[in-house]
Amino acid sequence: MGFARTIAIVSACVLATSALADDPIVIKFSHVVAPDTPKGQAAEKFKELAEKYTDGKVTIQIYPNSQLYKDKEELESLQLGSVQMLAPSLAKFGPLGARQFEAFDLPCLFPDREALHRVTDGKIGKELLASLDSKGIIGLDYWDNGFKIFSANSPLKTVDDFKGLKMRVQSSKVLEAQMRALGSIPQVMPFSEVYQGLQTGVVDGTENPPSNMYTQKMYEVQTNATISRHGYLGYAVIVNKRFWEGLPEDIRAQLEKAMAEATEYNNEVAKKDNDDALAAMEATGKTDFYQPTNAERAALQGDGARLRRDARTHRQEADRRNPPGSRHGRIARLGCARFSRAHPTAIFFVSRRSNDTKISGPP
Ligand code: SIN
Repeated sequence: MGFARTIAIVSACVLATSALADDPIVIKFSHVVAPDTPKGQAAEKFKELAEKYTDGKVTIQIYPNSQLYKDKEELESLQLGSVQMLAPSLAKFGPLGARQFEAFDLPCLFPDREALHRVTDGKIGKELLASLDSKGIIGLDYWDNGFKIFSANSPLKTVDDFKGLKMRVQSSKVLEAQMRALGSIPQVMPFSEVYQGLQTGVVDGTENPPSNMYTQKMYEVQTNATISRHGYLGYAVIVNKRFWEGLPEDIRAQLEKAMAEATEYNNEVAKKDNDDALAAMEATGKTDFYQPTNAERAALQGDGARLRRDARTHRQEADRRNPPGSRHGRIARLGCARFSRAHPTAIFFVSRRSNDTKISGPP
């Protein structure tokens, strides 16, 4: 090989390497909701801050509205590494084998956002995110959406009104149990198919925070809604573990800073977005929004309380009869776990005090 040719090849290699070194790291962030929801806006905020703090060394590509993947596929794609970042709702971790997140779906568990944040910002919230490690996933943070309202094509004032209705739910056993407790028939359906499902009558009704109901135009195909605020819908922002741990340390730190600020932003806009969405839907006059009386709310909440009580009583009874350390205790706990499988709402043992919300996993 002549000297000139060797020089040419070496220069080409140097150029190619430096071009590669200059190529930004791409993070594909897939989600299923509209860009003008709390999650959609927080994803944009994260993109803006991440690209700024890393000085363009990282590019965030956002794919909203199930453009890339629907509910279940997006989790599989994250594990395979086809996308690097997601923010699925906490109700969608079950199919991944992380049913502990379904605790958030227990009806009437959180009286307000403050009570919820005490859990997500505290030890339990951190432990739940850490439990994803074994699935090849790192949980970065929680993002709020809001409290859910029920909707259908008939009034939903009393528990009897729910009887026999096909209600779309997310893929959570606790949500299925909630709908059964109300006498409805739960139907799991990806978020991207809900509008059409309601329009064609495949399902009669659903539950979602106003921001999702509004941005998916569900109010066009639901004549009635009840401002029940019976349950919470929020998100865990997650990344592919191998990808995240393979990032240079300084880049990871800059992304973590961007994430912390995007989370703050998300939680600031979430409440206002939901209030605005409700007002906007009311203004269209297409859906009749019903504000339940205290008595009607209490009757609906009775079911939530019953589901929580079932779960707690079973655990306490097992502990009372058989001290936790004993052989019988272990067997009772196994029985408890079996009961949990048979009775999905008992997967979690929830105890509430005036000032503190404690959730503990099965034995
Ligand atoms: C979401 O907010 O990400 C979707 C919620 C749903 O599937 O109902």
